[in-house]
Amino acid sequence: SSTADHDLYDMTLAPTTASILPGLQTPLLTFNGSFPGPTIRARRGRASKVRVTNRMTTPSSVHLHGADVAPSSDGHPVDLIQPGESKIYHYPNRQPAATLWYHDHAHHIEAEQVYRGLAGLYLIGDAESDALGLPGGQYDIPLFIRDAAFDEQGRLLFTLDDFASRRVVLVNGAHQPFVQVRRRKYRLRLVNAANSRPIRLVLSDGGEFVRIASDGGLLEHPVRGTSIELWPAERAEVVVDFTNHATGSTLYLENVFNGPETPNRQLLQFQVGEPVPDPSRVPDTLRTHPDLGEPILTRTINMGRDATNTFYAINGLPYDPDRIDFRCKRGSTELWVVNNTDGQYNFPHSMHVHLVQFRVLDRNGVPVGPEEAYPKDTVRIPAGQTVRMLVRFESPFTGVYPYHCHFLDHSSAHMMAQLEVV
Ligand code: C2O
Ligand code: CU
Ligand code: CU
Repeated sequence: SSTADHDLYDMTLAPTTASILPGLQTPLLTFNGSFPGPTIRARRGRASKVRVTNRMTTPSSVHLHGADVAPSSDGHPVDLIQPGESKIYHYPNRQPAATLWYHDHAHHIEAEQVYRGLAGLYLIGDAESDALGLPGGQYDIPLFIRDAAFDEQGRLLFTLDDFASRRVVLVNGAHQPFVQVRRRKYRLRLVNAANSRPIRLVLSDGGEFVRIASDGGLLEHPVRGTSIELWPAERAEVVVDFTNHATGSTLYLENVFNGPETPNRQLLQFQVGEPVPDPSRVPDTLRTHPDLGEPILTRTINMGRDATNTFYAINGLPYDPDRIDFRCKRGSTELWVVNNTDGQYNFPHSMHVHLVQFRVLDRNGVPVGPEEAYPKDTVRIPAGQTVRMLVRFESPFTGVYPYHCHFLDHSSAHMMAQLEVV
């Protein structure tokens, strides 16, 4: 429902059962019975309120990933909605158009609760991006990608950090779905919503993706390529032109990431139909990015394990929701040097910072491409790498915000810390 100054959404968290694999019923935890959760479409400049009612037996906290929101609506890990209770989250939607997503963030249990279904898309649109003439409406398709392990009855198997057994990759909650496309350009919003699985996407015919947006919205200029690497929580918006594919042909979206495990390679089948008139276009300039300014200080952040090698840790420490790891000045810019260079262990990690969109500068001194630079809220930190990034605290909000590895199997096992914007 809506009022003059905001839109109100009601979301109920509840156990649900759905058919994902043929002939089998899978128990899930869902928002409004939907797997993944319902897609919320917001507009820049118009606030949303989301009233979440918890009808599960476990507590929850709902975080809008990538959003500029007050701490009281950020879904902090200990700001919990207990079973039987409700909470209203306020999302001001002051930021530019972007593909955001919401997910559970309850302390220590977010990995399992997200895995069991507590995640969905939240899209912000704005007039500036509408004016570009990119493919829209029915030609704008979100693809929410995650992996899962099932037992013979179709139940989800969950063991913390057992990512290798999650060999079934689902797209929009379905295993190897078909998508009918017309011969024209499409915008695909790709989200890696897996707990711990990096993916690298290609089209089976080697076709081109024109990358137009990253985590927090549009790139300055489109970037052409034939593969898209996304680690957990990263997003990319791409334009794919099906005009060059014959009517009646099929092509696949494939995952070719070289991991030790062997998931299904074909994620989705596009069935190409008749041509249709296509007035959409991809302009050479999409948006002008802000200058993040000069850093006032440098922070060193080490991603790894604690000294006794019993848990994943940031700077050697387990997450403590009562500890402020550092304070940042509102309106300032910082240089973060994020290391995964311990050398003893070979775990991949990532860095996600709530509240901000940051600029990734380089990996082991090599500048990153424009598609990975800005606007980012999550960046991959492979073993052996040092990644430098500029973080600007532009938001009007102050208070406590988490930063963490977005391998949720790691964040649930202590790999989280928090800053306070003052
Ligand atoms: Cu998407 Cu703190 O997370
Ligand atoms: Cu987040
Ligand atoms: Cu990690």
